[in-house]
Amino acid sequence: MRKPVIAGNWKMYKHPAEAAGFLHDLAPLVDASSQVDIVVCPPFVDVAAAVDAARGTNIAIGAQDLFWLKEGAYTGEVSAPMLVAAGCGWVIIGHSERRQYFGETDDSVFKKTVAALDAGLTPIVCVGERLEEREAGMTENVLATQFAGGLSGLTPEQFAHVVIAYEPVWAIGTGRTATPEMAGQAHHFLREQIAVRFGDDASQTTRILYGGSVKPDNIKGLMAQEDLDGALVGGASLDPVSFAAIVNF
Ligand code: PGA
Repeated sequence: MRKPVIAGNWKMYKHPAEAAGFLHDLAPLVDASSQVDIVVCPPFVDVAAAVDAARGTNIAIGAQDLFWLKEGAYTGEVSAPMLVAAGCGWVIIGHSERRQYFGETDDSVFKKTVAALDAGLTPIVCVGERLEEREAGMTENVLATQFAGGLSGLTPEQFAHVVIAYEPVWAIGTGRTATPEMAGQAHHFLREQIAVRFGDDASQTTRILYGGSVKPDNIKGLMAQEDLDGALVGGASLDPVSFAAIVNF
């Protein structure tokens, strides 16, 4: 009932020509995957080339961030309407690297999510605990706080279009995947938070992705978790063969 999403987060990798080459290689490997929303999120400067190369395929293009205002004197920033005009349908918001290195807060996550929704983009809103927080038994507190600050201020109509990604920070780029059970518990907890704020229907229909060292050899076990609806893939999304293997899980 919830259509899975497999989204690639390229982070700061690949030039425009490499993005086009990647999509030409990926398209035939995933063209039979109509049961999955396939999304590739390259750096901003690659978006035009990626959109061009993905035309006529079942692959959607997303961005990795945006700024919440539509336009203005904000050097270096890119707005939601600009992303839509460039051909993006999706955007990642609140990735832990943005929280860690670029001052992203739950408040900015909220503003960016509203801006994405206003423009018609599907936001993939990232939440997740750091290692010391997990070790201190704080995982659920962290998720509850991030949910409250970043998402609970949305209207139910807005929230209906949000995709959440649970990404434990200690699993990102480390090769240390959460076990399917750990991911399943966190996803279940997030569904409870959704139920309290937005109701049981929303809790059952919201898509929650897992992210953190997802690879072709662990995607099946993760997808077997009932509350897990797909993956946000970093490192393994940079190679068309490994990304296709995850899409075709
Ligand atoms: P990873 O990154 O798959 O390389 O761990 C995931 C992410 O940061 O979204």
